[in-house]
Amino acid sequence: MTAAANPGFTPRIFSGIQPSGGLTLGNYLGALKRFVEKQDEGIETIYCLVDLHAITVWQDPAKLRHATREAAAGFIAAGIDPARSILFNQSQVGAHAELGWVLNCVARLGWMNRMTQFKDKAGKNSEAASLGLYAYPSLMAADILLYHATMVPVGEDQKQHVELTRDIAAKFNHDYGVSFFPAPAPVIEGAATRVMSLRDGTKKMSKSDPSDASRINLTDSADMIAAKIRKAKTDAEPMPEHLAGLKDRAEAKNLVNIYAALAGRTPAAVVHEFAGKGFGAFKPALVDLAVAKLGPISVEMGRLMADPAEIDRILGQGAERADAIARPILERTFEIVGMVRSR
Ligand code: AMP
Ligand code: TRP
Repeated sequence: MTAAANPGFTPRIFSGIQPSGGLTLGNYLGALKRFVEKQDEGIETIYCLVDLHAITVWQDPAKLRHATREAAAGFIAAGIDPARSILFNQSQVGAHAELGWVLNCVARLGWMNRMTQFKDKAGKNSEAASLGLYAYPSLMAADILLYHATMVPVGEDQKQHVELTRDIAAKFNHDYGVSFFPAPAPVIEGAATRVMSLRDGTKKMSKSDPSDASRINLTDSADMIAAKIRKAKTDAEPMPEHLAGLKDRAEAKNLVNIYAALAGRTPAAVVHEFAGKGFGAFKPALVDLAVAKLGPISVEMGRLMADPAEIDRILGQGAERADAIARPILERTFEIVGMVRSR
């Protein structure tokens, strides 16, 4: 599936990250690093800090504001250039919530009931989850379709939501007899589309994990990165000769994938290089690589965070540029569904 599946639509990339806590190595390798690559390939790129999604579970207001600015600093420090990409926070462009409503009326309950992330996040007591958490994927569809985006770079866990977006777009087009929305393709590439916890190779690395040792945060100092990698769970076996030898070794495999993604190499090449060596030898190499790649990002984030007014200015300008694309598409949507637009 590529943009070629959307004749008549200009290739355009949209993606989002929730500013509900700090950015992790999982966000960096699964999303952010690839956002920068797409920008540098010269495709039109729109990146959004989805604060409306963040409040589907309660957020401390002061922390949310801080995390939104910090995530913006993380994007810029990682290489997003606000002059080349559009970088903004979702709530500053009202069209997201407006299209979200229209799409709530297109999406079917049966489709929403199949969303695995809702089940994970709502847990056992789903009656107590917010209505927003349930509708979350249809707001995500609005984020993407509002820009007629054709490609959506995400980590593995978001594939189902992008597929739902395609279903919503197709149903809208069918119900109203139009070819208005493209069918956006998930773009899931690289060695680290699912970075696992450093403490438990069966769990995704996540900003919401209660254990800070389970993740590397983009704000961690070099010493913290080193300590977390040294403590990361592994096994007593040496590195195998071939990648297949990591099959049932989730923690070891995760560290290899992280190394490969940070180095821009394949996991197979990394296994080959370290074949026969113990993880006692591999971990220091991973520490050096991680500190070399992530250290400068955390330093730059600190520098940017010293001037929050400048970050707000960048987000404001991004929101204006986003709005200029989104507004006409929203207006056309309202016309298609039969709303009187007289002002
Ligand atoms: P979130 O933090 O849930 O808003 O996720 C933002 C982006 O980061 C999405 O594209 C996710 O798929 C990606 N992402 C989050 N955690 C991971 C992880 N552990 N491994 C790979 N990608 C991830
Ligand atoms: N649901 C995504 C996540 O939790 C974040 C998100 C919201 C998103 N809107 C989006 C991702 C639009 C891609 C495109 O990771």
